[in-house]
Parts: sequence; C-alpha cells; structure tokens
Amino acid sequence: MFRSQLLRHVARAATAQAPRASIRVARPAASSIRQFTCSPRRLDKEPYDDEHDAASTIGEPGESGDHEGQYARTGENIRVEYPEEKDLPPSQPVQGRGGFHFKRTLAAFSMEGRVAVVTGGARGLGLVMAQALVTSGADVAIVDMNRDEAQKSAQGLIDTYMTENPGSENAPKVTAHFCDVSSPTSVTQSLAEILKQHGKIDNLVTSAGFTENYSAVTYPHDRMQKLWGVNVDGTYLWAVAVAKHLMERNAPGSIVMIGSMSGSIVNVPQPQAPYNAAKAAVRHLASSLAVEWAAAGIRVNCISPGYMLTALTKKILDDNPELKQQWTSLIPVGKMGRPEDLMGAVTFLSSDASLYVTGSDLRVDGAYTCT
Ligand SMILES: NC(=O)c1ccc[n+]([C@@H]2O[C@H](COP(=O)([O-])OP(=O)(O)OC[C@H]3O[C@@H](n4cnc5c(N)ncnc54)[C@H](O)[C@@H]3O)[C@@H](O)[C@H]2O)c1
Repeated sequence: MFRSQLLRHVARAATAQAPRASIRVARPAASSIRQFTCSPRRLDKEPYDDEHDAASTIGEPGESGDHEGQYARTGENIRVEYPEEKDLPPSQPVQGRGGFHFKRTLAAFSMEGRVAVVTGGARGLGLVMAQALVTSGADVAIVDMNRDEAQKSAQGLIDTYMTENPGSENAPKVTAHFCDVSSPTSVTQSLAEILKQHGKIDNLVTSAGFTENYSAVTYPHDRMQKLWGVNVDGTYLWAVAVAKHLMERNAPGSIVMIGSMSGSIVNVPQPQAPYNAAKAAVRHLASSLAVEWAAAGIRVNCISPGYMLTALTKKILDDNPELKQQWTSLIPVGKMGRPEDLMGAVTFLSSDASLYVTGSDLRVDGAYTCT
C-alpha cells in the first residue's frame, strides 16, 4: 500500500515537472531575451538598443560619464592624517550616566560580582565600555599600552562612580595594567598580574585597536603586520588566554570583541583595506570561537560600531571638515554615534541578559550597514 502510494507520488511529480523542464530547454529561434553577459556586445561594437545601455554593464568603462563609480570609491590620494599619541587629549569617564537610580530594570543586566578585562580601556570606546561595566556592578582591569593614561582612567572611573553614588560603601575595584596585546609574552604577563590582583576573570572586552589609511599599493608591509597584530592577534591572544582561565575554573564567561562596521562594508573615501579585512576577521573570530567554546559555557560576541565621535575621530574631522559631511551623509540616522551608545550594547552582551546570544554581531552604526 505504502509502496504504491509512493510510486503514484513519484509519477505525479514527474508529470508536473515535465512541462517546466521543456520550457527551460526550448529557445525561440530569434530570442528577445536580453543576454546576461555584455562581452559579445562589447566585442562586436553593435549599436545599443537604447540610450540607457551605456549606463549598464553593456557599456565600455567610462562610457556613461566621469561619475561612474565615483560615489562608492576609495581615493588613492586621500590620506587621513592620524594624530600622534601626544596630540590626543585624554578621554574622561562620561558624567551623569551611572548615578544611583530607582528606575526598574531587569536584574539580568547586573554585572555584580564579575571581574572584567577591557583591552584598550585607557581611553575612547574602551574606557566608556569599562565604565558601563563598573556602573553595572563589575570590577574592571584596564589593559593598555599607554600605562599612564590607563592608570589615570582607572582612578577616574572610581572617582566618577563615588561622585555619582555618594551613599555607596564599596568603591569598585578598577586596576590598570600595561600590555601590548599583539605580544603573547605581554598578554601572559598582564593576565598573571590581573589574576593576582582580582583573583579571577569572568568577562573580556577587546577594544585595543587602531586604523590608518594608505592605498593598498602603497601600504608599508611592516605597518600592515602591526595593524593585524594589534587588531587580530591581540583579540585572539586575549580571548584564548581568558577562555583557558575560564576552562580551568570550569566557569562560564562572556567575551565581547570590538569589530567595526568596516568588517562588513568598505568605508569611503579613505582607503583602509587591511583594517577592513582585520575587522572582518574579528567578527568571524567571534562566531568561530562561539561555536568552539559553546560547550564550555563561554559566549563570544562581536560589537561592530559605526563612526563614533571619540577624541581621535574628532581630531580627524577638525582637520578635514569635508570628511564629516561625507561620512554623515552616508549614515541613515544622519549623525555619528557617541561612545556612550555602546554602554548598553556591551552590558547586554557581557551580562546574563544575553545568555542565549553567542556568535552574534551587534551593529551599533545608525543603520550604516543597511544601505
Ligand atoms: N572610533 C570609532 O569610530 C570606531 C568605529 C568602529 C570600531 N572602532 C574600534 O573600536 C576600538 C577602539 O577605538 P577607539 O576609537 O576607542 O580608539 P582609541 O585610539 O581612542 O583607543 C584605543 C586604545 O587602544 C590602545 N592600544 C592601541 N594599541 C595597543 C596595543 N598594541 N596594546 C594595548 N593597547 C593598545 C590605545 O593606547 C588606546 O588607549 C578599536 O578596535 C577600533 O578599531 C572604533
């Protein structure tokens, strides 16, 4: 019975397929269907069917005017000068964001009892994300190559917290540690130092990173290696170090990697191919490690910020006002983000509010990557 039913189904399916199959193979003698490829037309140099053809792939490069590809092109000669460390003002913890409040909120967002490491936490986005974790109840170890600024920022976080929470009996523990994230030895040393001072690590946020602009054909190889060393190796080395520690403790944990929208799109007009590729690597590293460590209870996610207004980007835009207009005109919400816009995102992904979220990429970019 079952067999005959099956045979009937197969026969019916074959009949239903037959006409469609014949339509696919039959071709009219003189087809009005347009060719997908433009190569025969280019070679034959036949006149176009209509004036719009020149603007399609049927036309020769440049045929529809100088504007071809202009709006989505990086410029060989565009060079954004990145300021030297000494020319950048130090970042301050944000004020008025973390004060004691009586608004009801989900307890799952709390970071009470957790110890978090934030690489590149001396300033910029890393510092503000460190503050978000401190405000949410965590103790934090700031890791940075800039030892003095890391020290000042750690103290600044404690002071801001105490000012905004005057009744608080316990100041959060915020420490600063020197580390060049691209060096395995340096990572091992600072990890040991953090464990000595905090006893354990539950969370990691990798924000140490940098970008610079060279056209691909002029990029000095040693610079490219440094860029990937900090952005990719630095992320990997810290993630592995913290994951090993969590596995040894048999404890769950959460790792948040700071990628960039540049890992999904190509920024214009500044050329920065290695940075874009590095951030794509960070995003996929998060997914790959999320799968590898899921069974160990270690979640790994990525945050991909869009253009954020930090001391660094402010300086660049002050020097290149036309760049600001170009950037913001490409952002659907019409504005750059503020570092504070990452506070909720990093707390969500670090805390138990996101227990079933792993391997994801949270884009905080004003919808830049939607267009
Ligand atoms: N600012 C933006 O618009 C933006 C957008 C998308 C992604 N990002 C990413 O966010 C992260 C932080 O950017 P930011 O704007 O805050 O930059 P920033 O330059 O203000 O801060 C980066 C911090 O990393 C530290 N650092 C650099 N190299 C290091 C190394 N080898 N070892 C340890 N610390 C090192 C620096 O000393 C600095 O404190 C970076 O990974 C960046 O690529 C920034």
